[in-house]
Amino acid sequence: MYPQLVIDLRKLNDNLNALAGLAGQADCSLMIVTKSFCADKRIAAEILKHDAVQYLADSRIQNIASYADMAHGAGKETVLLRLPMQSEAEEVVRHADVSLNSEIETIRLLDREAGRQGKTHKVLLMIDLGDLREGLFYQNEEEIFSVCEEILRMRHIELFGIGTNLTCYGAIIPKPDNLGWLIDLAEKIENRFHATLSMVSGGNSSSVYLIQKGELPGGINNLRLGEAFILGNETAYTNRIPGTHNDCVRLRAEIIECKEKPSLPIGEVGVDAFGLVPEYEDRGIITRAILAVGKQDTDPDGLTPLDPGVDILGGSSDHLIADVSGTGHALGGTLDFRLDYGAFLKLFTSPYVTRTYLE
Ligand SMILES: Cc1ncc(COP(=O)(O)O)c(C=O)c1O
Repeated sequence: MYPQLVIDLRKLNDNLNALAGLAGQADCSLMIVTKSFCADKRIAAEILKHDAVQYLADSRIQNIASYADMAHGAGKETVLLRLPMQSEAEEVVRHADVSLNSEIETIRLLDREAGRQGKTHKVLLMIDLGDLREGLFYQNEEEIFSVCEEILRMRHIELFGIGTNLTCYGAIIPKPDNLGWLIDLAEKIENRFHATLSMVSGGNSSSVYLIQKGELPGGINNLRLGEAFILGNETAYTNRIPGTHNDCVRLRAEIIECKEKPSLPIGEVGVDAFGLVPEYEDRGIITRAILAVGKQDTDPDGLTPLDPGVDILGGSSDHLIADVSGTGHALGGTLDFRLDYGAFLKLFTSPYVTRTYLE
């Protein structure tokens, strides 16, 4: 059944090998982020087989719940990436070994819940270095110290470390200077409280370029990588990571109409199904293929046809329209597409898209 995601587990494993090499070079532990593929069981199992991966992380507790037993069986820890909702404290403690936090009130709840479940829950305290998403603001040192002091007094919470997230909301690029502030803070916390922080997590796929340049500051000992794994991208300057593939997962969609028609619509132009005024290029009469996949499943702008002769013209909720003139593609056939991050995310989330695996 189409649309279908064709998932090449061998290529994903190559990507893991490349990241393992980089993490090893920087003495960093490797946390692989599973949210973009909705914690697909087969992909998660592939990651868990890899010796270099220590943590599996996701922003949704349901995804973590789906693989927690498998991860623990493989000797890996699970990490909740998005700050916990207070309403999910019970599930967080049950399924995640570690969670990223910035609110002491929520951490108090986790402490109580961990006590109830007879567990110790690890907290990675998030520090906002200026990207202005989650975290205690790095300049508010007294607030950070007082939060750490309270956590260190808790009976069922371990202050596992501190971390930061960059290049998300504010698109701020990790550099030796801003990551240096994180490392300074870690040292200050350790000295002030005679404590050891096991993890100083220096960000996501946007920090990979620093390893490549040999500039990731020494005090950073963990990276949390999603896009670098699934697409082989370093996301600070959007370069490809050597040794990785960007077509580990392809979309395959079926042609449900293929006809010679004009390239310009006929009649008064209003707005399209999404309220936008479309723009058209006059290419004369072309072979137009309609494929059975749409904006309800993916982001058409994030698809690149693997056949360079195919040109995507647009899409509606259930349809993708492409110019296939001169390519020989015909009704009933399929087209393959490479995916960007946004298209990838939506395709895995759509229940209408099937999956097949190459191993
Ligand atoms: C806190 C956090 N860390 C790491 C990641 C992974 O980001 P990326 O896919 O850029 O590696 C994300 C997003 O998925 C995140 O929210």
